[in-house]
Amino acid sequence: MSRKNVDQKVKTAVLISGGGSNMVALVQAAQAPDFPAEIVLVISNRPDAAGIAKAEELGVKTLCIDHKNFKTRKKFEQAMDKTLRAHGIELICNAGFMRILSPWFVGSWRGRQLNIHPSLLPKFKGLHTHERAIEAGETEHGCTIHYVDEGMDTGKIIAQAKVKVLPNDTTEALAARVLKAEHKLYPQILMQIASEELQTQN
Ligand code: GRF
Repeated sequence: MSRKNVDQKVKTAVLISGGGSNMVALVQAAQAPDFPAEIVLVISNRPDAAGIAKAEELGVKTLCIDHKNFKTRKKFEQAMDKTLRAHGIELICNAGFMRILSPWFVGSWRGRQLNIHPSLLPKFKGLHTHERAIEAGETEHGCTIHYVDEGMDTGKIIAQAKVKVLPNDTTEALAARVLKAEHKLYPQILMQIASEELQTQN
């Protein structure tokens, strides 16, 4: 990450496609005066994402960049990239963002884009992770924060939080337990990465 302008906080965008509960956790944490990152912008690729209204209620600027309005993935990503740069964004947190990103976009934001995934990677990449963890008879499950690379859920792991899989666990109960862990871990990691970034620059 290289900062051209040394501001007090790392300008961060959150990308969402749905409910946005991780985004809310990030925004609320970042409202603390001494938090090293500022959530400047929340972008949704879906106009019906429930997270948009939640971000607005929290006073964060929101934008919908609907991928369906673009003829190609490249054009959609160019619009996102342009918007992110126009807002001086230095760090992106994907939080339930459900679009596959091309090598072009990934390369443009390498080392500056995080994702949260609801499993203990490298186990259970992709979808339906809770169901698959139960089916596989796992006794531990959890979430992972990683840098985004060209693969699906393959980027360098930054941190994980574990939860127990209980006997007779349901997908819903396990999902709720993991989500709670996500809400704790993501703000912690954003704080850590943004602090490191500020220290490097000062
Ligand atoms: C989370 O489980 C996250 O790990 C995954 O998608 C879900 C998003 O939930 N990538 P929310 O939109 O943050 O509530």
